[in-house]
Order: sequence, then C-alpha cells, then structure tokens
Amino acid sequence: MMTKENKPDGGLIGWAFNHLDLIFSILRWIKPTVVFKGKAFVTRFDDVTEVLDRDWVFQVPYAEKMSKVTNGSDFFLGMQDTEQYTRDVSNMRLAARREDISEIVTPFVNNTCMDILAASSGKMDVVQELTRVVPTRLLGRYFGTPGWNEAEFTDAATSMFEYLFYPDNPEVEEKALVAAEKTRNYLDQTIADRKLNRIQCDDVLERCLKLQDADMPGMRDLDIRNNFIGLIIGAIPTTSKSAAITLNHLFNHPELLVKAQQAARVDDDAAMVQYVQESLRLNPFAAGIQRICAEDYVVAKGTMRTTKIPKGTVVLAATQSAMMDWRKVDKPSEFRLDRPDYIYMHFGYGLHTCFGQYINLSQIPAIVKSVLKQKGLRRISEMNSAGPFPVSLGIEFDI
Ligand code: HEM
Repeated sequence: MMTKENKPDGGLIGWAFNHLDLIFSILRWIKPTVVFKGKAFVTRFDDVTEVLDRDWVFQVPYAEKMSKVTNGSDFFLGMQDTEQYTRDVSNMRLAARREDISEIVTPFVNNTCMDILAASSGKMDVVQELTRVVPTRLLGRYFGTPGWNEAEFTDAATSMFEYLFYPDNPEVEEKALVAAEKTRNYLDQTIADRKLNRIQCDDVLERCLKLQDADMPGMRDLDIRNNFIGLIIGAIPTTSKSAAITLNHLFNHPELLVKAQQAARVDDDAAMVQYVQESLRLNPFAAGIQRICAEDYVVAKGTMRTTKIPKGTVVLAATQSAMMDWRKVDKPSEFRLDRPDYIYMHFGYGLHTCFGQYINLSQIPAIVKSVLKQKGLRRISEMNSAGPFPVSLGIEFDI
C-alpha cells in the first residue's frame, strides 16, 4: 500500500507522493493505465474495477508474508479463489454473522465510546484513548480475544499490518515477526483455555469451537488461530485510522463540522455513514490495492485507452483515483452526502472485499458520532502519524 504518510522524503518521488491527487487526475486524462519498469498504475474507475474483478489474472500478493506471520500457514486474504479460500471465508461468516452488527457490535461500540468519553477529563488524545481502544475492546467482547495487554495487542496488530501491506522494510519486519509470535502464542493459549472452560458466552471463538465440535473441516485449533490472526490484523489499525481521518477532515472544515455535529446529536446514523465515506474518499486510507499480474492481460480492451499489462507486473489498482473519476463520481472534489454506495471502494472491491465492511460502517461512524456529540468540541492539536498510522489528535470539550 502506498499512502502520503509512508512517502519517501524529498526529491521528485517525495513530491509525487505529496501530490498523488494531481498526478492521478493527469493520468486519468492522458494515460489512464501506465506501465513502467515492471509496475502498473491503473487510475480510471472502470479499469480499477476490471482489475479487481479478474482475481485469477490480478492475484493477491500477500501469501509469502502471511506465511511468516502465521508461521507456515496462510490466511484467506493471502489466498487466490481456491477451495480453501471458500472454506475459510464461509466458516468465518458462520461464526461472525451479519445480524451480530445490530445485536452486538453497534450497542457495544456505542456503550464503549460513551463510557470512555464520560470518564475523560474533557481533554483527550482521541487516537490513543478512543480510536485505537474501541476496535480492540470490540475484539475482546465479540471475538473473545481481548489481548494479553490492550495497548500491546493494538501495537502488535498495527505492526503486522504495516509489514503485510506496505513496502518491505527490515525494521518493520523484525518488529512485526516478534508481534506475530506473541500473537500466535496468545491465541494458542486463549483457545486452549476456552476449551478447558467452555463458557456460555456467545462470541466468535465459542462459535468456532462449536463448528469444531461438529467436525467442520477448517476448524482445527490451528485453523482458528490463522483466521483470528488475519481478522485481528485487519480490524484494529484500519478502524482507528479511518475514524481519526474522518474527525480530522471535519475539524479542517468547520462548516462541515457544525452540520455533522447536528446530525450526531439527533443520532442520524445514515448521515454519519456518509460523513465517514466522503471524508475517507477525500483523504483515503491508502492510494490503492496491490496485485500481481499472473498472465499478459489487456485492460480496457476495445477503448482508446487500451493497455497491455505483461505477466509479472506489480499492479496498483488506484482506488483513491477511481473515487475521484468524474466519469462515475459527479463533481468529485465536492463533499456530498448523497452519493450512491457503489462509488466507494475504501473496503476494496471484488473477491477480496473487506470481511469487516458491514462492521466498519457501524463501528467507524459510531466512534465519530460519539466525539461529535460532545459540547464545545474543539481540536487542540493536529493529527500526527507515525509511519502509515495516526498516533495523536488532541481534542477538548465541555464536561
Ligand atoms: C472489523 C474491522 C475489519 C476486519 C475484521 C477486516 C478484515 C478484512 C479481511 C479478512 C479482508 C480480506 C477479505 C477476503 O480475502 O475476502 C479484508 C480486506 C480488506 N479490508 Fe478490511 N477489515 C476491517 C476493517 C477495514 C477497514 C476499516 C478498512 C479501510 C478503511 C479495510 C480495508 C480493506 C481493504 C481495502 C481490503 C481489500 C484488500 C485486498 O483486496 O487486497 N478493512 N479486510
């Protein structure tokens, strides 16, 4: 993944990373798919969806790193569309059900945010004290894996995410592999403890063990551990960053902030979702999604922009650019609350669309709403990032 926050410093490349929007808008006009030195950048909406739809041609590149994180196995985001992929996703969909969102996730997130804000002194670092904490606590309640220590567990997920989805960096790798070992040991212990003491607690771990009781293939202890590692990595840093980005965008636009606060105070949850979607579209989580081209392929065949992508090319399906393509998104620079869902690709597109997409559309707006509800809300320090993830954003409110 490529983001403004992990840009190389200085020089032309540094400048380019700081001006991705401009570069993508020029490319969408003059050369919508660029192939250069073994890499390809796909920038138009239709072409980005074409790439992400052809999952056997444009394959996920994560298996090797997933194998290091899981210690020799894989997790379904690292797999192509194989029997094992379908088995593992299906099992986890049985254990983490859509109806849990209204029954478990939304009430838990609302209550957790309320408790944290009520206990605060009216001055807080919203990243350290809220956006990082809530998704981790949700994993505790909903998955049955609170972690060995809340902050360390959150850091572990964050460093494994950085290792898996950002360019190679030996320091990041070293830290992530230590975190991975600790997380594997923690999960082994948690699964073993639960099996000794099966409680009447309805969480994802308990449901996985019920599937194991029924001899469901793909539900051995090791399989459960692999699934949980991937889900933990996917759930924490992404949610925290998305909530922080949204709040920061609103603070940068006081007229939007006022309207969003009004919507929050009347619990207009549909509007909250749109505030999140638009804030992330204009300040994307990442520039795009990486794939490896497994065979020679011609993108946008039959059009003036048709381009051949050779086998072996590393492809960036630039979702950031697609969501700014006026051919599909009316007046893309405007912040609008009435855009259709299908223009948003924050949670990916095609086979590997985010497993947590419906959780996200509950959890992220709920975190944002809880902050916006505070009276006299003001930002007291800018959002800061370490690597790709926000680490601080100071706020104050009346108590
Ligand atoms: C509870 C929270 C989350 C969980 C459990 C989760 C988990 C996952 C999983 C398991 C996948 C792989 C799906 C598959 O292979 O079929 C995935 C994909 C993805 N997720 Fe999430 N995720 C969460 C939150 C988020 C958030 C907040 C974002 C971004 C703002 C995000 C962005 C993505 C993207 C872009 C992909 C596609 C990756 C690709 O195709 O290469 N996720 N997520």
